[in-house]
Amino acid sequence: MSAVIEADGVHKAFGPTTALAGASIAVAAGEVVAIMGPSGSGKSTLLHCLAGIVRPDKGVVKFDGRDIGALSERQRSALRRTRFGFVFQFGQLVPELTCLENVTLPLRLERVGGREARRRAAEWLDRLEVADVAGKRPGEVSGGQGQRVAVARALVTGARVVFADEPTGALDSLNGERVMRLLTTAARETGAAVILVTHEARVAAYADREVIVRDGFTRDLAEIPA
Ligand SMILES: Nc1ncnc2c1ncn2[C@@H]1O[C@H](COP(=O)(O)OP(=O)(O)OP(=O)(O)O)[C@@H](O)[C@H]1O
Ligand SMILES: [Mg+2]
Repeated sequence: MSAVIEADGVHKAFGPTTALAGASIAVAAGEVVAIMGPSGSGKSTLLHCLAGIVRPDKGVVKFDGRDIGALSERQRSALRRTRFGFVFQFGQLVPELTCLENVTLPLRLERVGGREARRRAAEWLDRLEVADVAGKRPGEVSGGQGQRVAVARALVTGARVVFADEPTGALDSLNGERVMRLLTTAARETGAAVILVTHEARVAAYADREVIVRDGFTRDLAEIPA
């Protein structure tokens, strides 16, 4: 397997708290991986290290085979803007903008022209089955619709990796499953890798593979004896 994104032996401490104590993971293009584990085990920290938001104390994170720790802060932020997409539990959309404008935003930051950005954003809203809320503001749509808009925004730039931290955590199970179905279908079609943190087995069931984080260590579910 050639990994699009990988972490090898990542350590991270916050003061006296060890969040990661040698976490490793490798995810291929088009692969959907669920990261599971108890609260405080280091799942979000691992996601942030992979995304270049948090710098590991030790260990390597590679995107497309290149060590992202060797990049400047500016290069890492360009990487996040152009190659990575993010979906969080809630509150990630800009409240003053319409749903369509929220999805055009990452394209506008890349200097895509207004008309073309709106065309591509509308196409993604349609794919995520939220074309009908294009003109509404995030405060005027349901939680599930808002998350589907967030997925559209994460994928509209042609992201190679989507990082999703509890993307369905604030949704009921029916809406959660709809978000997962649309996210995983879109990712498999575009070849984006998805790294998904979740507490719910029902959500993890949409992944190709589960990785367990426990006390800052990762383990593939397949390696753990039943
Ligand atoms: N910015 C920070 N400053 C201090 N400690 C932190 C920080 N971020 C995380 N930690 C600590 O690191 C450990 C791992 O946190 P992390 O957020 O990665 O856990 P998690 O597995 O995502 O938990 P949850 O399921 O509750 O979201 C915890 O003990 C947490 O308190
Ligand atoms: Mg977390």
